[in-house]
Amino acid sequence: MKLMQLLTEIEKPCAFVPTMGALHAGHQSLIAQARELCDEVVVSVFVNPLQFEDKEDLKKYPRTPEKDAEMAAAAGATVLWTPSYEDIYPAEIKKLSAGELGEKFEGVHRPGHFDGVLTVVHRLFELVKPKYAIFGEKDFQQLFLIIKMAAQLHPEIEIIAAPTVRETSGLAMSSRNVRLDKDARIAADVISKVLRTATECESVDQARKQLAALENNLDFKLDYAEIIDESSFELANNETQRARAIVAGWINGVRLIDNMAMKQALVRV
Ligand code: PAF
Repeated sequence: MKLMQLLTEIEKPCAFVPTMGALHAGHQSLIAQARELCDEVVVSVFVNPLQFEDKEDLKKYPRTPEKDAEMAAAAGATVLWTPSYEDIYPAEIKKLSAGELGEKFEGVHRPGHFDGVLTVVHRLFELVKPKYAIFGEKDFQQLFLIIKMAAQLHPEIEIIAAPTVRETSGLAMSSRNVRLDKDARIAADVISKVLRTATECESVDQARKQLAALENNLDFKLDYAEIIDESSFELANNETQRARAIVAGWINGVRLIDNMAMKQALVRV
């Protein structure tokens, strides 16, 4: 695997996995999927300040450069690219807007976050020019917005959605999990358990009732729990073909998000 700060000599076509580092098995599965698509797999590690509305969160974001290099190479990356701030934003930043959807769900709790995500992903795409770019379904709203942005600004890039990788407890893998202590980890199991129960329901109303259990959980400070229509990110109803339960909240000062697709076509009323 080649280590690069400045991006030179990338083989084309390439598959691209953008990350903010602190790599875990979830990222490794994205890299392995990328490797199935192309012989050249570029992994970027760039902690993008523009997507952190809370500067404390940016400071606390885990940084594990040596482990990142080992994990990326072991999963099949051929290039690990670690650009500096100036490499990504050399001049005045032209910020993209995530529009109205950028202000819903995650956007209510993290204003400006998705503008920052779209701005950096657009820049990364301009620099790498991949054939494929792979993103995890765990950040489902991010994935939705990136697909829309890429369709407009980078129609030549195929965006691949990769399923969420979970720990044996069901907890969705996330770079933030390293900040959970033993008790918080146990408490965090409630998220995937409630999501699973909700997604087995036969109607949106029943699923919403299951999600409401999270409101009364003493260990979990809920930001939102909803059932959305995957095609529009509007609230789902019983006419929705493909619905998904989405959840975000806090456990012991660590923000966690997760989602699962509804298991069966919803019952029509
Ligand atoms: O999901 C992430 O790790 C980040 O939001 C991304 C897509 C790498 C942009 O900084």
